[in-house]
Amino acid sequence: MTPVIQTRKAKLQHVLQIRPAAKSEVARFFRTVVRTRMRSITELFSADRLEMADECIVAVLDGKIVGATCLVFDTGDGAELATEYVLKEYQGEGIGTRLTRAGIERLIALGKTPIHVDVASEAMDSTLDRLPRKDRRHLRLKRSYLKYGEVDLPER
Ligand SMILES: CC(C)(COP(=O)(O)OP(=O)(O)OC[C@H]1O[C@@H](n2cnc3c(N)ncnc32)[C@H](O)[C@@H]1OP(=O)(O)O)[C@@H](O)C(=O)NCCC(=O)NCCS
Repeated sequence: MTPVIQTRKAKLQHVLQIRPAAKSEVARFFRTVVRTRMRSITELFSADRLEMADECIVAVLDGKIVGATCLVFDTGDGAELATEYVLKEYQGEGIGTRLTRAGIERLIALGKTPIHVDVASEAMDSTLDRLPRKDRRHLRLKRSYLKYGEVDLPER
């Protein structure tokens, strides 16, 4: 059943789909994000970083991609959930929590554990907090935002 979410801000009903996506689709989404919303290129959306991904998952709201996360199967000592982003106007609606859960549970289902996450923001940390305990025991978190501050996106 396709989940329907009601956005907190506009109280509008939206059909939310969380699905696997080709890297080319995510590359197009990230290029559009950088071109239309960022003042400059930023590591989070770089092509090299995306190239390392083995699989990607996107959040689609009423047919439009509004978020993505990327999975790396083998970093040498486990897997990694890398690069998660949700369009600003859709943040805080629970979409990131669903993307994180879909990504983490996909890696666990494939036996790609432990799972490393470089946690670059409090919001990302909250999405990980919301995972069921059975999933969280596979996580190896590096909370870089506590040491270096929140990821600083050069948003327009
Ligand atoms: C991190 C991110 C993907 C989370 O996605 P999201 O759709 O906003 O996540 P959720 O709606 O599930 O919210 C998760 C938590 O973050 C909080 N949050 C999300 N966006 C927020 C915002 N703009 N301002 C304040 N709190 C916010 C939510 O309130 C929630 O916190 P809670 O559990 O205390 O209620 C998204 O915020 C984002 O793209 N941030 C910029 C890039 C980034 O930090 N990527 C992660 C790199 S590791």
